[in-house]
Amino acid sequence: AVERTLSILKPDATRRNLTGKINAKFEEAGLRIVAQKRLHLSEAQAGAFYAVHKERPFYKDLVAFMTSGPVVAQVLEGENAVAKNREIMGATNPANAAPGTIRKEFAESIEANSVHGSDSAENAATEVAFFFSGIEIVG
Ligand code: CMP
Repeated sequence: AVERTLSILKPDATRRNLTGKINAKFEEAGLRIVAQKRLHLSEAQAGAFYAVHKERPFYKDLVAFMTSGPVVAQVLEGENAVAKNREIMGATNPANAAPGTIRKEFAESIEANSVHGSDSAENAATEVAFFFSGIEIVG
């Protein structure tokens, strides 16, 4: 089925001018960028977005990293978009990411791993709504 998923290009990616190269990976794989905006997240915004990880030991560092520079939030649309995007991104830890994936090619570390992608259709709906209103998504 055609799905939508939330993608974030993280501060390590925008810092190194990788927006175009990463977007090319999505488009080459058949995902369509149907919404996109560049933002500098506040601590409250990053903390709220990652609220599910609040109890994890890496939460504080993660929020600090995600507010360290601009991010690009986007909605990707396509057949099986949630799973397909996770395939294109590769494993969370770049050390475990398959060749050709975004994280294998670009990520600096498990934290500065260049991209975020929703992990389920249910979370995708919540995460898309966190960043975008309906009028901003043009399929
Ligand atoms: P992301 O898909 O954005 O979801 C949570 C993020 O926490 C994850 O990518 C990583 O960037 C970051 N993170 C930092 N340390 C860890 C860790 N030990 N395990 C999982 N995620 C981590």
